[in-house]
Amino acid sequence: MRLIQLTDPHLSSLESFSFFGVKGKRKSGYLSWYRNRRHIHRPEILERLTRAVHDESPDRILLTGDLVHLGLEDAIIEAASWLQQLGSPEQVLLVPGNHDNYAADSLAAMRRHWCDYLPTQDAGATDYAAAYPIEQTCGSVRLLGLNTSCVSRIFSAQGELGEAQLSRLRSALGGPPSGLPGQVPEPSVFTCLLIHHPPLPGMASARKALRDAKDLQLIVEEQQPDLVLYGHIHCNRQQQHGEVRSFCTASASSVNNASYRVFDVEKADQGWHCQMRLMSLDKNAGTGARFTVAGESSWSRAS
Ligand SMILES: [Fe+2]
Ligand SMILES: [Fe+2]
Repeated sequence: MRLIQLTDPHLSSLESFSFFGVKGKRKSGYLSWYRNRRHIHRPEILERLTRAVHDESPDRILLTGDLVHLGLEDAIIEAASWLQQLGSPEQVLLVPGNHDNYAADSLAAMRRHWCDYLPTQDAGATDYAAAYPIEQTCGSVRLLGLNTSCVSRIFSAQGELGEAQLSRLRSALGGPPSGLPGQVPEPSVFTCLLIHHPPLPGMASARKALRDAKDLQLIVEEQQPDLVLYGHIHCNRQQQHGEVRSFCTASASSVNNASYRVFDVEKADQGWHCQMRLMSLDKNAGTGARFTVAGESSWSRAS
């Protein structure tokens, strides 16, 4: 089973907007885009990464948020056409980021234009997290997608799961995969959590942190999912917490180090085996450069 994670493309051309044409929190976000991010996140890099991901023939593409920059409807529409190029809703599992659910009107726009890639919810529902965690199975891999994308105050990039979503996650991890009611969880199932914000305390600055990371930490320590994939901090990072491996991947459109990760998960005699390959674009290698292996690791877990 081949899973590929990519994250934080920040697809947004704001060329048709001006500082005076956006309001509230979007003014500071616009300045950040104008001064820095428009030079870093490039559509031509994302196009190359998308082609490279397709060449890997993944069974599932895991997209951990921040598709756009200011949660504006025009950008959300633009991202919808990229999503369709990336893969069908059956091939792509998307969890939103703080830059997607950026302002009060963003959630409704996401539901309008990304509806095929998001869980079904009433158009007027205001609880961003009501349908999460979303759960899918892919062979013997169980995928649980979380939503941390609450609208935050100006200059904050924090996220939050909320008590209700945490409680649903605890129940889901402690129970059988959906579609198999009444069955005891199979120990050889490989469980992967997807989340935009760094999941545990201390993994991000206070300004960018997950507000209820301590609560999530308790669940992760208790339930020991096999893999946690996240984005948000735009760097490549790998850590181990007990049996749990966590990976952050750099932005998919970055001129500095655009990256994606490949996870090949196979059932082994007693449990499973996972091989991870980090693929990155070297910023010094010119426009013809290809994605090359920037890191590898593998591990097994017995049932
Ligand atoms: Fe981001
Ligand atoms: Fe983010």
